[in-house]
Amino acid sequence: MSSDTIESVMEESRKFFPPEAFAASAHLKSFADYETMYRRSIDSSEEFWGEIASELHWFKKWDTVLDESEKPFFKWFDGGKTNICYNAVDRHATGVKANQAAIIWEGEPGDQRVLTYRDLKREVSIFANSLKALGIKKGDSVAIYLPMTPELAIALLACARIGAVHSVIFAGFSAESIRDRVLDAQSKLVITGDGGWRRGKMLELKSVVDKGVEHCACLEHVLVIPRNVSGPRLECQMHEGRDVWYDDIAAKQSSDCPCEEMDSEDMLFLLYTSGSTGKPKGIMHTVGGYSVYTYLTSKYVFDLKEDDVYWCTADVGWITGHSYIVYGPLQNGTTVLMYEGAPNWPEPDRFWEIIDKHQVSVFYTAPTAIRAFMKWGDEWVDKHDLSSLRLLGSVGEPINPEAWMWYHKHIGQEKCPIVDTWWQTETGGILITPLPGVTPTKPGSATLPFFGVDAAVLDAEGNEVDAGLLAIRKPWPSILRGVFGDEQRFRDTYWCNWDGKYYFPGDGARRDEDGYIWVTGRVDDVVNVSGHRIGTAELESAFVEHPAVAESAVIGVPHDIKGEGLVAFVLLRGTDTNGSDQLRKELNALIAEKIGKFAKPEKIIFSADLPKTRSGKIMRRLLRDIVTGKELGNITTLADPSVVENLKSKCAE
Ligand code: WT7
Repeated sequence: MSSDTIESVMEESRKFFPPEAFAASAHLKSFADYETMYRRSIDSSEEFWGEIASELHWFKKWDTVLDESEKPFFKWFDGGKTNICYNAVDRHATGVKANQAAIIWEGEPGDQRVLTYRDLKREVSIFANSLKALGIKKGDSVAIYLPMTPELAIALLACARIGAVHSVIFAGFSAESIRDRVLDAQSKLVITGDGGWRRGKMLELKSVVDKGVEHCACLEHVLVIPRNVSGPRLECQMHEGRDVWYDDIAAKQSSDCPCEEMDSEDMLFLLYTSGSTGKPKGIMHTVGGYSVYTYLTSKYVFDLKEDDVYWCTADVGWITGHSYIVYGPLQNGTTVLMYEGAPNWPEPDRFWEIIDKHQVSVFYTAPTAIRAFMKWGDEWVDKHDLSSLRLLGSVGEPINPEAWMWYHKHIGQEKCPIVDTWWQTETGGILITPLPGVTPTKPGSATLPFFGVDAAVLDAEGNEVDAGLLAIRKPWPSILRGVFGDEQRFRDTYWCNWDGKYYFPGDGARRDEDGYIWVTGRVDDVVNVSGHRIGTAELESAFVEHPAVAESAVIGVPHDIKGEGLVAFVLLRGTDTNGSDQLRKELNALIAEKIGKFAKPEKIIFSADLPKTRSGKIMRRLLRDIVTGKELGNITTLADPSVVENLKSKCAE
């Protein structure tokens, strides 16, 4: 073992205890609090969740807390009627509380808006009435393709208010990705904007939407929101009869729009995510369980109080933004900060400037961002007063201990607990995490399960082991309710192990002597690039659409900043095995067109062959070992072992 490794192992066994000052004023103050509550959440789970749900508003109380009769299609709070928009907005828009800021927004160019809970209720109601005026009713599907402006949060809440199912498409996706999602969800409306700022440039949204929806017969309208609420509209092409400016339609609406009384198990939203095969799948979440779970996790994981200024740097286009920018924090009546643009615009200290300016107290970001800040240099951090911070969070991928330590020291000033939260689009909310006033943390470990979560590390037979597959043995309220339109895929993906008894998230993990869980990463063909999930199968099928390409294999390899980067092996048709820079450019453009720019591979390697087993399966593990220069293990299962030497020399080029 080299001295480097010894040092990192030693580092990883370090423990950080919650600062006393933090614990003293936290919702949960001691490990004993956690243990008692956790035991109850497992042993008397229905009683536990029933009590928690009672903290929210229900138009009608539920009949049963959990109905497992149609497992793996679970029902939570069945028979109950509620509305998440009511719980996130209306509940707080009365009395003095109505004057508290719900959203503090900063645009990339520096423009600012503050919406109180009263303002938010008004804006959401007008938006909801505008949707109705466009013919949107309960159960209709609405796609949302917007930059990070307050209207993005408002659009989600407005859909929820009238019972329309939102399907948010991250604004970095391509026209083709929009088309796939609009068609799959049969969306009647796409909400987009005339632009948004990112790294000093105006994002083209409307023209991308126009291209994406060209052949979508289901689509009735495109609603276009001006980026500048009171300024001039930005130029964009409007299709007569189909496209509507939001300010035109909103001007005619009343600000009174009662919340639809939704059944607990009515669908709240679809969110598309990548898997190991085929096209992205529409993950289904329903109203009741998702409300309760995002409410409770936000309360305890981020220790939210009314006077916090909470900032999650994710985009609302991903699940993190749904659960922990919009629904969770607002249900807790806290103040949410939203920022439109890039972390290094105009300089690499933008985030720290924002924290200082708005006195942010709780900050939630991703390891990939932390590693970028480390690279940009401490001086950008040191310029600012970060003393308003009291709690830090991390999400998206395993955080390496080095990044954890930097975050702890430079951002947390060694006084803020760090919550490393493990969860997924499918889980709806955080499942494994420290609680900030309670759990001693270890850099790199997501530590222990949240209330109601029975997490285990199992082997293929279902025995508990030190290292193996992560499994969740009990349903939790915000578990996905299925893959839209594809029951088989739902069963095959998540219920394929352990005779369908336990939920399988697709991650590997180990458990240490304290019972702490260390998530080690995906065990399927899903790559985590900068915290974004990309299915290698999607890239491979995009590549082969190019006439010059015969076959391809895409793998994820370690990357300093992104966590993982993509490397594509491409086999050409005919006799050319070298490819050209021109072809490389075309292939990159193809990926941008089919998926989005963020899926661009780090490297495209043209090769004459791929390592395959005798039955023709590509040996991806071997490709990974070749690229990373690892000692190659057993290669006797290879149909043609000479492939390896060829690939090695190609990689060295
Ligand atoms: C996958 C889910 C959850 C919101 C962001 C991503 C990985 C996420 C952690 C963490 C280790 C993590 C897992 C998971 N992941 N958070 N704290 N430690 N791994 O959502 O796109 O659905 O991706 O991200 O591999 O399965 P997603």
